[in-house]
This record gives sequence, structure tokens and C-alpha cells, in this order.
Amino acid sequence: MKHLIDPTDFTKEELDQVVALGLEIINNREKYREVLKFHKLATLFYEPSTRTRLSFTAAMMELGGNVLGFSDAASSSVSKGETVADTIRVVENFADIAAMRHPLEGAPLVASMHSRIPIINAGDGSHAHPTQTLTDLLTITRELGHIDGITIGFCGDLKFGRTVHSLIKALSRYKDVKVVLIAPDELKLPSYIKTDVCEKLGIPYREVRNLEDAIGDLDVLYMTRVQRERFLDEEEYERVKDSFVLDAAKMKLAKPTMAVLHPLPRVNEIATDVDPDPRAAYFRQTENGKFVRMALQYLLLQWQDDPQHAMPEHPEYFRDEKLRCTNVKCISTHEKVDPLFHEENGVVRCVYCDHKI
Ligand code: NCD
Repeated sequence: MKHLIDPTDFTKEELDQVVALGLEIINNREKYREVLKFHKLATLFYEPSTRTRLSFTAAMMELGGNVLGFSDAASSSVSKGETVADTIRVVENFADIAAMRHPLEGAPLVASMHSRIPIINAGDGSHAHPTQTLTDLLTITRELGHIDGITIGFCGDLKFGRTVHSLIKALSRYKDVKVVLIAPDELKLPSYIKTDVCEKLGIPYREVRNLEDAIGDLDVLYMTRVQRERFLDEEEYERVKDSFVLDAAKMKLAKPTMAVLHPLPRVNEIATDVDPDPRAAYFRQTENGKFVRMALQYLLLQWQDDPQHAMPEHPEYFRDEKLRCTNVKCISTHEKVDPLFHEENGVVRCVYCDHKI
């Protein structure tokens, strides 16, 4: 069975298939009106979300299906101490597919290990957000006509921004993509993405401090909000919160074809004077999120019993009862899980959150 926990769970062909079906749905809405009639999506949202949860819900409804679930942990049995593994064993009896958002990194992976229905990671802590990635891939395709060969700048909170981590991983599947990282020192991209993704998979990247220095080279500018809720230290948040602001004056330095993406919500990192600029693609991006989630749910249900669409094998994973992950935001430090690790260039990492052991 296929789940979507990390963008690299999908092959390049599978990513292309989701994007292509998203485009096909946009052009043939009628044809897909009832294709998931009598199917149910469970939305298991342990963390606040507006657009992601609503777009999953709208997507299933537009395919003729139904939706059940919860939108905060307090209204589920988690508040009574239920584990993710037990919750999913219950939910699989009521729904055909589930989307899970969780503040603990690796929680959707744990769910997928215990589930008979496809699980979609709708965001786990600062770790990953693969359906936003599918949204971004569809948006880049619609805005520019191609993904291969682009230069993309990521600006803002590259440390805690899970959408950035997932999109860079997915871009490693495409040809000749170049990455520019624009962040203050405190919010730099985690080193495992630089070493295990960019360097290992051959994505050239450079790091700059100023948006003005890089903006003229970019085909896509991916802005992000500083993720206040992930800071352990409020003072540090105050120090970095206004690091980068894109405004109409800076847009003058950009290519006439550059697309501005943002997963939203925005705080102040894009001034509203950018909104009327035809290159501002972030609200169109939101709508693409619904179409791509329609395509994703439809395909995961189609692929469910197809051995050609199994989860990737990970021969590099190993079990070690003596090792412990120390990341307080990792599911493995809160619930009893299979103690799985992987090693890359002599560095051992937790399978659930990718933190160094
Ligand atoms: C993002 C998220 O939840 O990580 N939002 C979203 O899914 N549209 C980005 C963010 O919260 O900043």
C-alpha cells in the first residue's frame, strides 16, 4: 500500500502522475464529480490548520465523498492518553483514507506503520509537509510551464519551515534545479537537508543573507513565515521575526516571469503592495492545493492494492533498542515506537524526525 509521509515516498513518475491528474481535474471538473462516491476521508488534525484541512475536505467533497474527523487534539481521545497507533487502528474501521497533521515529528509515519488504509502526512512538526509540496509542484508547473531547470530561492524560516524541507526533497527528483537559501543565521536550513539531500542528490545551492542580492536570478521565490510556535525561546523569535519583507520595490529587481509562492498564512513577510502584481501566485497556489489533493486522494485509493505502488524499501534502516532520539518534538520521545535509525556519512539519525543521534 502507498502512503504519503515524505515526498520521497513517491517516485518521479508518481509525482508527475499526481501533478498531471491535478491538471486534468482542473480541465474536466465534471468528469471527477462522483469518482469517490461512498468513500470517506478522516481528517485527524492534532494541530491548528485552516487551508490544509479545508482543502482536504473540499477535495474529498468535490470527488463525491464524505469527510469525518477532528480539528484539535482536545476533542479526540488523545486527551485521554491514546497513542497514535491505537487511534489509527480505530479510525481505519470508519474511513477509507486519512490525513493526519500532528505537532510531533514522525507521528504520521507511526500511523502508517499500523494502518490498513492510506495515510497522508498533512504536516508533522517542523519536519515535512508533502501535500504542500504537491501543491507547490502543480503551482510551479502552471505558472512557469516546467520544473526542470528552475532556480528557486527559499526565503525566511528555513529551519522550522516544513514546507521548505519537503519541497527541496521533491525537487531532487527534477533535472538541473538550483537552490538559493535566503535566511538569517538563526533560521538556516537544517544541515541534514544540505548534506543528505542537496549534496548527496546533486542540487547546487548557495546561501545569501540579502533578498536583494539574489532576487534577480530567481524563477521562483518561495517566501515563508517565521514559525513562531516552533521557537523554544520567545526572545529569539522577536530578534528574527522581521528579517525579510518582500515588497513592490524589491519586486522591481525580479525577472518579469518570476513567480512568488508562499504556503500561507502570511504574517508580514510579503507586503500587501505585492498582491496586485501578476507574479504573486500565492492565492492561486491555495486553489491548486485543492486540485492536487483531489488527485492525490483518488490515486492513493487506486494504488492501494497495486503492488507496483508499494512504499519504498529502506534497507539502510536498522533497529537498535539501546539508541534513543533526544528531539523533544519527536514522536519517539513521547510514545513507544519501533526504535529505527538510519546512517548517512557516519551520522546516525532517527527515522521518525531525522535528528542526529
Ligand atoms: C504551512 C504549514 O502548515 O506548515 N501552511 C500550510 O500548510 N498552508 C506554512 C505555515 O504554517 O507557515
